[in-house]
Amino acid sequence: MEKKRFYITTPIYYPSGNAHIGHAYCTTLCDVFARYKRMRHFETFFLTGTDEHGLKIEKNAKTAGLDPQSYVDGIVAKFKDLWRVMEISNDEFIRTTDPKHIAVVQKVFSHMIKNDDVYLGSYKGWYCIPCESFWTDTQVGENHLCPDCGREVVKEEEPCLFFKTQKYLPELKEFFDKEKSIYPLGRKNEMINNFIKPGLEDLCVSRTSFKWGVPIKEYEGHVSYVWVDALFNYVSALNYLSEDDSLYKKFWESEESEIIHVIGADITRFHTIYWPEFLTSMGLRLPDRVFVHGLLMMKDGKMSKSKGNVVSPYPLIERYGVDALRYYLTREIIFGNDGQFTPEQFIDRINMDLVNNYGNLVSRTISMIEKYFDGVIPSYLKNINKEDNEIDSLIKLTIDKYINELDDLKITEGFIDVMTLVSRANKYIEETTPWVLAKDETKKENLKSVLAHLARVLFVSTKLLEPVLVKKVKEVYEELSLSNEEADFNNILNEHLLDNKHVKKGAILFPRLDVNKEVEYVKSLMSNK
Ligand code: ME8
Repeated sequence: MEKKRFYITTPIYYPSGNAHIGHAYCTTLCDVFARYKRMRHFETFFLTGTDEHGLKIEKNAKTAGLDPQSYVDGIVAKFKDLWRVMEISNDEFIRTTDPKHIAVVQKVFSHMIKNDDVYLGSYKGWYCIPCESFWTDTQVGENHLCPDCGREVVKEEEPCLFFKTQKYLPELKEFFDKEKSIYPLGRKNEMINNFIKPGLEDLCVSRTSFKWGVPIKEYEGHVSYVWVDALFNYVSALNYLSEDDSLYKKFWESEESEIIHVIGADITRFHTIYWPEFLTSMGLRLPDRVFVHGLLMMKDGKMSKSKGNVVSPYPLIERYGVDALRYYLTREIIFGNDGQFTPEQFIDRINMDLVNNYGNLVSRTISMIEKYFDGVIPSYLKNINKEDNEIDSLIKLTIDKYINELDDLKITEGFIDVMTLVSRANKYIEETTPWVLAKDETKKENLKSVLAHLARVLFVSTKLLEPVLVKKVKEVYEELSLSNEEADFNNILNEHLLDNKHVKKGAILFPRLDVNKEVEYVKSLMSNK
């Protein structure tokens, strides 16, 4: 059964440095899904935010000479600005320092304590501060390195509360048994083999060696472990346990809502093991899918603040436009795999798909309609040229495939299919040679059909690219004289939508990039870091 509502979340980011295109990657993908669902008239809620407590933030604030709250306030403002510039359409921005969130975390602890899900103990082991993760002797090995990020871990010894992970193992196994709950499957198997099969250890869920966290009312001196605090953002943002919890009821509790968490591979364990267990402890339903995307890598490994190899999105947006960056992130890296950012691939992708393929189709089609029909799009005809049928069926096939793929979070494949339609249309121009048809009065109908088909491909491909190319598509609708209502997704199958519309040529959508010059420019951004 297709669910009628859609709730999608990004991880909440640590405000411990400037956002880089690795963060922009996940947020953009979620934005594309949210926009796609809205375009199809699903009731949609898209959440992002910041994860502001924990030892790492407390230490960073100290180094910066600020109190933690002022420290995070400054960085959060920068994250919000980046999302504005990247045209991110989130419905809510949750901060774990919001009072409503803090109240939820405290109530969660009260419940877990009453429910006998936690017990007081003492932690003795290793801790990775940047990942905010606990590890055992065997996991960190002789060199005492974090198995996730490879950085040095520190020895910790402190009293804390432990969560009984064995208690909810049956429910966790049920979650793992669901076909698409964790995707790609390799990630799910990794969790089974590395953590579930060897036997889950109880999780330390409170800290007593520092202060910057949500205080646990029942245990003085204890603050919530940052990951318990962080994960509950997904429901506190919907006003869970508030007086008016209608959003929560609509987008979380209701089975009519499809719940999707999109996360990076390094935080899979928290989202697929502990989060389902915490939810079960609270008696709440589990998400439908946890989708694990790959990481954006640089030649020297993962792009990350601590490595200092980050690329800022701002200069890229300023020079190439937000749509080009959004398209690159969505298309270049196969969703689910790691991808490497290289200046060459960045520039080539824009040139290949946006300049030479899509932009070219827009400009050729509009110019020919102006030249041969005084700017009036001819009525849509059927069975005139032998190539027309192929275009008609490819349009239908592309729409069907795109919907199936995006509904299944196969975002890269969806946009590859749109570009295949666009390049087929460019080839159709070469095959039907409108400039030859225009010289022969007896071929008037043939010419009309070619241009009507091209205009139709233009509308369909533009509509399907709308969740990514959020700014440029508006220019194309204007070139086709389509109002917002006319350009609605519900009209995508209407073959006569464009009949007799007046086209207006606009500015070049994506100017051709000089490869050598632009590669040098992008490289200079990287070496400046
Ligand atoms: O982990 N490429 O926050 P975070 C792709 N606060 N994704 C990347 C990336 C890269 N180079 N670098 C980071 C946290 N990410 C927690 C989350 S959620 C309840 C709490 C992704 O700021 C990373 O994989 O360290 C993760 O999914 C997200 O950015 C946040 O990372």
